[in-house]
Amino acid sequence: MSVTDEIKSRIDLVSYVQRQVPGLKKAGRNHKACCPFHNEKTPSFIVNPERQTWHCFGACSEGGDLFTFAQKIHGWEFKEALRELAAEAGIALRAQTPEQKSASDRRDALRGMVNAAADLYQDRLQAGDALAVRRYLTESRGLNDETVRIFQLGYAPDSWDWLLLSLRRLGYSDEDIVEVGLAVRSDKGRVYDRFRNRLMIPIRDERGRVVGFGGRALGQDESAKYINSPQSALFDKSGLLFGLDMGKGAIRESGTAVIVEGYLDVIQAHQAGYLNVVAQMGTAMTERQIGLVAPRFAGKIVMALDADEAGQNAARRSLEVARQALSRDYAGRLSVDLRILQAPAGKDPDDFLRQSPAAWDSLVAGAQAVADYVIDAETAALPDDSSMHEREAVALRVLPILTASESNLYQQENVQKLSRRLRISERDLLAWARDKLPAEHSAPPPMEDLPPAYWQDNQIPYPGEASELSAFAGSAEPAPAIGSGLKRALEPYCLGLLLRDPNLLYLVNRKLRELAGDDDDLLRGPLCALGVDDFTESQYRMLMAHLQESMAQDEREPLEHLESMVGADLQLEYQALLLEAPEAVARSIRRNFQVDLNDIFRRRPSRTGPRSSERDELISRALQLRLTRLEYERVELQYLQEEAQSSVEVDQQQTEQLNAKIMLSMKAKARINRAVSRYSHSLQQSSIS
Ligand code: UTP
Ligand code: MN
Repeated sequence: MSVTDEIKSRIDLVSYVQRQVPGLKKAGRNHKACCPFHNEKTPSFIVNPERQTWHCFGACSEGGDLFTFAQKIHGWEFKEALRELAAEAGIALRAQTPEQKSASDRRDALRGMVNAAADLYQDRLQAGDALAVRRYLTESRGLNDETVRIFQLGYAPDSWDWLLLSLRRLGYSDEDIVEVGLAVRSDKGRVYDRFRNRLMIPIRDERGRVVGFGGRALGQDESAKYINSPQSALFDKSGLLFGLDMGKGAIRESGTAVIVEGYLDVIQAHQAGYLNVVAQMGTAMTERQIGLVAPRFAGKIVMALDADEAGQNAARRSLEVARQALSRDYAGRLSVDLRILQAPAGKDPDDFLRQSPAAWDSLVAGAQAVADYVIDAETAALPDDSSMHEREAVALRVLPILTASESNLYQQENVQKLSRRLRISERDLLAWARDKLPAEHSAPPPMEDLPPAYWQDNQIPYPGEASELSAFAGSAEPAPAIGSGLKRALEPYCLGLLLRDPNLLYLVNRKLRELAGDDDDLLRGPLCALGVDDFTESQYRMLMAHLQESMAQDEREPLEHLESMVGADLQLEYQALLLEAPEAVARSIRRNFQVDLNDIFRRRPSRTGPRSSERDELISRALQLRLTRLEYERVELQYLQEEAQSSVEVDQQQTEQLNAKIMLSMKAKARINRAVSRYSHSLQQSSIS
């Protein structure tokens, strides 16, 4: 039995979870609670006592065993979890490998030296010639003695070798002193102190061990305001947050981490009693820094910006990092509440805290939601007479941030706001926004369309369809690019045209029949008549159902019947599709389109019925609509197939059926793709002539 199994056999997951999540309740054979890793009201966090596993079926949609749970809830690395859980289970761990041992011994030795340096700097601050520095701290920076002591602030005197000599005396070698960056070796081989005449701020890792320093210039004339320890085996700024060792308890308790830019912002905040404040130390935030606080300790991150432009820019970059880091954790959803704080009147957090420490809490509580901030910041720069193109560019930058939010209501409010600011209809924005996330997962290269069993075995895909497949996969004629926003815009576009002229449905269905040829499976399956399932939005589905009914009856004109069917609940949508849709939809897809739809719509209604290019346009778009549906279905089929193959008893019959379905769908897609590219060709011709 492995050590991990041994530990798991001794610690019951249910009781372990129960200690961390008191709300855990028995529910049938499982135990259930609101997920401790994201905010929710209905429990979707399950612990299975038989399998000793847990799973969140909500936003996290992840799970695991005792170790993953302990790591996630405590923010431990696997190593730490192993150590802690082994201790709890009363199991002795095997020793490290010799290499691991010597590397960690080496780091310990270096850490000891850096620690000694911190002590030396701290002592030196009490020397007579450091009086000016002490004055600076108390008078200019408003720090009291206790704060100076807690942060172990120190002084590096104005000397080339004070620290070097002190450390040598303690038995440390020049090599080591240079390696951690406390001293520098010149080209000529001379070794000298890196930090001279500076206020020294020890930087600690999460466990409170000093790993490096920030040294602040004391004179005005210094070239760099701060000099920091260089990157080394011990010090990696991008993986540290200043103040986290002292702040993590408060961050966990309050559920909020306030991230500021500078050392002195943190020190000031702690002095004022706000311990949940940490600093990213100037540079733009990294993913690792985010990961140090969220989601492990905090459900909310407040980024406090410096007032200057550099601060704003750093914030913008940090925001993007935060969004990516956090969304990756939560299946594309930002369940960590990310906020932006700006102290009023151009103040840095440090200034603000010194002047009005009591107001800090409400400042943090009132921090602006990221989406609001981004909308404001991005639209502020737009001139009044900005072009559609400029406004679209803003929309494309902002939408991903809006759609990363977990709350739909919040998303909608923001989309409304953005819509007003940009004068782009909400509908267009929503179509883009909704597509942003799925688009990242869809549209794999065509060859991946083959079911796994086929490309793994390196078989020839499908003998009878070789030519169609190569036309599809080899993309001799690339299918017209469907922009991500366009995919959803296809629904209102096609439905709008069909509602205005129901007879067009015959054209589309005739085309689908033609593509199916005499293949009954295709005709009944992936190339069946256009229907409700080609639409994803429920109101469109209902309207499509009414449309089909109208076509199926023969007592009245289809349009007349349709109008009588559409109830009050659908009236608005119906009217919008009839009247508004062409312009709105055309606008959103024009860039991806060879034909100017407005031009087409302006000619309507025409007595002679739709022009042939318009008919072709509709058919081509309807086929693309079907392609989209087939793509979604393929993902589902593959998922089912993977499940079937990974189950204990592989159901041969089911696997074969699924394979056949996937092949059939591929065949249909190949045919549709070819037809669509033919249409795009002829449409291009007709728009040129
Ligand atoms: P600031 O210039 O805002 O410094 O840089 P500060 O902490 O507010 O310091 P005071 O209040 O002016 O004394 C913010 C952070 O950026 C890093 C430091 O971590 C600093 O705390 N920084 C800044 C550097 O690393 N090097 C620099 O030259 C400047
Ligand atoms: Mn600052």
